[in-house]
Amino acid sequence: MEKVIKIGLLGSGTVGSGVIKVLDMNRRQITERVGTPIQIKTVLVRDLTKPRPYLKDLRVTDDIEEILRDDEIDVVVELMGGLHPAREYMLRAMEAGKSVVTANKDVVAQFGKDMFAMAEQHDVDFLFEASVGGGIPIITPLKQCLTANRITEIMGIVNGTTNYMLTKMTECGSDYDTVLKEAQQKGYAEANPSADVDGLDAARKAAILASLAFNTRIQLEDVSVEGITKITPDDIEYAKDLGYVIKLLAVGKDSKENGVDVRVHPVFLPKSHPLASVNGVYNAIFVRGNAIGEAMFYGQGAGSLPTASAVVSDIIDVSRDIVNRTFGRVRCTCYEKKTLCPIDKTESSYYVRLLVDDKPGVLGAIATAFGDAGVSLKSVIQTRRNVVDHAEIVAVTHIVEHARIQSALRALQALPVVDEIRNVIRVENERG
Ligand code: NAP
Ligand code: HSE
Repeated sequence: MEKVIKIGLLGSGTVGSGVIKVLDMNRRQITERVGTPIQIKTVLVRDLTKPRPYLKDLRVTDDIEEILRDDEIDVVVELMGGLHPAREYMLRAMEAGKSVVTANKDVVAQFGKDMFAMAEQHDVDFLFEASVGGGIPIITPLKQCLTANRITEIMGIVNGTTNYMLTKMTECGSDYDTVLKEAQQKGYAEANPSADVDGLDAARKAAILASLAFNTRIQLEDVSVEGITKITPDDIEYAKDLGYVIKLLAVGKDSKENGVDVRVHPVFLPKSHPLASVNGVYNAIFVRGNAIGEAMFYGQGAGSLPTASAVVSDIIDVSRDIVNRTFGRVRCTCYEKKTLCPIDKTESSYYVRLLVDDKPGVLGAIATAFGDAGVSLKSVIQTRRNVVDHAEIVAVTHIVEHARIQSALRALQALPVVDEIRNVIRVENERG
């Protein structure tokens, strides 16, 4: 008799319901592609009383044991989110000999090592394509299609909510609070938007991407993180004037001299950079490898069907392995232990916006403070835009070590003519 691949689905919210829909919508093609049908056997939810018409033909339970103890279930698909009990359920599923597919960046970023170890120990698959970039294929390309390369740089717009907000600030001149409200009304930002706007969501994704790109385990605490809450319409306007756009980027760099540097923060990005035209809730990941050169992966980073597209592709991959009895084909790829670049040693150009006294000698004093700290300036503009009795000076530096810019900022802060350091933002990937 033909083998039917049976799934235990943990969670049927935004992504879980999308998975049910995609499996149903493309049933015939998926069966052909795997060589055997895939069937959801049992769905785990928290609240059995919630009306869920899309689950009408499926067995629904609030008892995880029904899935973990069911020998007929081959694959557990975890779409509950959060660290616990998702981590424990996935570990137990693998212990019971079931392969696991998840979209859970929190667990992958924090407990990826345990997950891979358990998968290896029990000869099962652990796949997580949807954990970064929603529907965009990026995990499989890093683990498989780009393995011929030494990857030196990976940069991504990996949070749709903040990209929507920055795009709106750029297009409409709105301020941070207005665009946050809009993002919440549209259902992109949560009532507590901290994970998105403070950069933590992007940091988890950065840790996953850098671990795969550089073949070394990057923990969440290795990622330096800054969100978008300090970005003002003035910064957006100066960026435009200077030929940049502001984006929240996850940046990973691997240099033989300095080691691995992984960070999430807003950047001034030249308008000519491929990531600069990624707008709204869209995500994109840019990769530089020593054979492929530059490559960019673009698409919808969230949403029910786009994310389900990645989850179902993983289900298909696992199912093919089950059909071919070839589990664990692509195992953990963090086989090196690379040094992390200390933040003081990281290098970048910087945009520095200062509120200063509008009187003779100010520009000279500021240039001296930068110069004494060993920071070379690329351009300086002075305006009286939106200020009364003062001036604003905006400087863009050449590439400097983080430690040097910090020392320049301390010197500037101490100058009597500098009233306020209004913002400091890295300028990324300057070409030429
Ligand atoms: P969601 O809409 O909140 O759905 C979560 C589902 O899990 C609900 O059905 C919930 O049951 C169930 N659940 C939660 N905790 C449970 C528990 N302890 N026991 C049993 N069931 C539990 O979440 P989602 O947006 O689909 O996200 C799922 C995962 O995908 C998360 O890891 C998320 O980070 C990831 N992801 C989401 C997106 C996206 O666009 N939403 C994109 C990429 C990745 P009830 O319905 O009974 O409450
Ligand atoms: N909150 C995320 C975003 C989607 O705004 O991109 C889930 O990873």
